Amino acid sequence: MSLKTIQLAFEVAFVLSSFVLNVSHGLDAKQVIDSPLITSKIGTNRTIKVDINGDGDFTSVQAAVDSVLPGNNHWVIIHVRKGVYRERVHIPENKPYIFLRGNGKGRTKIVWDKGSIDNYGSATLKVEASNFIAFGVTFKNDANFGTPWTTQNQSVAAMVGADKVAFYHCGFYSAHNTLFDNKGRHYYENCYIQGSIDFIFGRGQSIFQSCEIFVVGDARVKIHGSITAQNKQTLEEDSGFVFIKGKVYGIGRSYLGRARGAYSRVIFAKVYLSKAIVPHGWTNWSHNGTTKNMFHAEYDCHGPGALTEGRATWSRQLTEKEAAPYVNIDFISGKEWLPVYY
Ligand SMILES: *[C@@H]1O[C@H](CO)[C@@H](O)[C@H](O)[C@H]1NC(C)=O
Ligand SMILES: *[C@@H]1O[C@H](CO)[C@@H](O)[C@H](O)[C@H]1NC(C)=O
Ligand SMILES: *[C@@H]1O[C@H](CO)[C@@H](O)[C@H](O)[C@H]1NC(C)=O
Ligand SMILES: *[C@@H]1O[C@H](CO)[C@@H](O)[C@H](O)[C@H]1NC(C)=O
Repeated sequence: MSLKTIQLAFEVAFVLSSFVLNVSHGLDAKQVIDSPLITSKIGTNRTIKVDINGDGDFTSVQAAVDSVLPGNNHWVIIHVRKGVYRERVHIPENKPYIFLRGNGKGRTKIVWDKGSIDNYGSATLKVEASNFIAFGVTFKNDANFGTPWTTQNQSVAAMVGADKVAFYHCGFYSAHNTLFDNKGRHYYENCYIQGSIDFIFGRGQSIFQSCEIFVVGDARVKIHGSITAQNKQTLEEDSGFVFIKGKVYGIGRSYLGRARGAYSRVIFAKVYLSKAIVPHGWTNWSHNGTTKNMFHAEYDCHGPGALTEGRATWSRQLTEKEAAPYVNIDFISGKEWLPVYY
């Protein structure tokens, strides 16, 4: 190949990649959000290094978190080098402004294997501080017990229980009850979330932008699982899950959602849905009451799982106008608190 050909190929690749990135990433975002961008936006160079081989300030992630002073009010970076960290990590309420930065979700992994009858108790990552960001880290609960639908043994990979929390390029792995999106406003972008039953659940108010949702089966369970079990309980409550773009696929079959709360609110917008999604789409399983207050909706989804024939009668196909308030970063007032908008 001549130099000119190489240059041309490079230019074409560059044009193509910027095109793809522009159309597939970030609500309103003008550029791809990566770690250097976040680091520059939060405006700090205070970095605590964690290296499992001892070439950092700490060998454990929790030890690094413990070293942050209570009442912290300036962004601090905890950089976790590649490796499998077998530990539980708790970000306590009095330590906001932590940016947990990994070397990529395939390289920096935090893994624990606790099961618990309560879903707070089992979480590998527990976030109770506001203004927390994670980038490029995998959170996994590999407890190998617990039949999903008995709820006797939860195995939560991450419990997100504070306001203003964002995850970019992170992985969440568990057999079921993977991501406990408990409360507060959250933003997930380009994350990978895996599970069989109720694997994204809670009362958070969250946007999942361009995420990959992977449905696994659980041979012990004879019913279809559900990706979401959103728990909005009253009309006034702000909670709800909005999935924008990205894809749902896997090796098991599942509903998009089940009504955990009487006002359960979940929207899938412009998402690719594979055959992993059963035609009925949504279930009122275990919900003992009217379905008229549920907001189980789809907008402009595509793929073989997006066919509307056979969909649950209470579910809705939204028009562009109806979808607009959800397919918008303002749903979580993101411009007010996400550093990428600073
Ligand atoms: C860190 O930031 C401070 C304040 O902006 C600056 O004075 C210092 O040179 C920086 N240090 C490094 C290593 O970049
Ligand atoms: C839950 O986990 C315990 C071990 O901690 C195990 O003895 C028990 O059988 C599990 N329960 C279910 C329903 O799987
Ligand atoms: C369902 O509702 C009925 C009537 O309110 C009640 O008697 C029954 O216990 C409820 N069942 C469940 C599983 O909550
Ligand atoms: C629950 O869903 C089933 C199946 O779609 C339906 O027959 C039933 O009427 C629903 N229950 C309520 C209260 O709407």
